[in-house]
Amino acid sequence: MNKVPYSTEHDLSCIGSLDELKEMALSCRRCGLREECSGVVFGEGNPVARLMLIGEGPGAEEDRQGRPFAGKAGQLLDQILGAIGLERFEHTYIANVVKCRPPGNRVPRPEEARQCLPWLYRQIELLSPALIVLLGGTALQNLVDPQARITRARGQWLQSKSGIKIMPTYHPAALLRDPGKKRPVWEDFQKVRDEFLLLHL
Ligand code: URA
Repeated sequence: MNKVPYSTEHDLSCIGSLDELKEMALSCRRCGLREECSGVVFGEGNPVARLMLIGEGPGAEEDRQGRPFAGKAGQLLDQILGAIGLERFEHTYIANVVKCRPPGNRVPRPEEARQCLPWLYRQIELLSPALIVLLGGTALQNLVDPQARITRARGQWLQSKSGIKIMPTYHPAALLRDPGKKRPVWEDFQKVRDEFLLLHL
């Protein structure tokens, strides 16, 4: 995982818990996004979940509530998880590439992601999930390869250096715009369910 340079001068390796990390992240001002949003959307879920989901960044509803995937895309995500027998708070932990809402829901700029990614990397280390689902091209490009295309990469397992299995798939918001993407996402999440069940054998 990660061919993208991220800000290594921001060393969070001494932070020992998700709660401590969250407290620090809430006062982050490392990029300009914080000036235009209501607050930091750190992430939420089961702190011992084996499955982590990573999106792009908070939208308007997430910014209002301070929670990831709280809007329409989040409702669809909950339905997708339900269809494979999972419940977000019990079985997953959800975070985003950037923790502050980009104005007008634009894609986060490379420098914004670079500054924010150390939070996410430490979140991943502390959570130590077995599986990660990357929701959309922004998560794929920032965490795996800036040249990667979600249309090509989705549906195939990747593996991080530390052994985490990574499944890229379309972002739920893309499904809302294009219902033709429902079938591939369904297929991708069935693969996730199969791996998830194997973890509990
Ligand atoms: N889209 C995302 O990528 N993340 C959210 O938290 C909400 C919508």
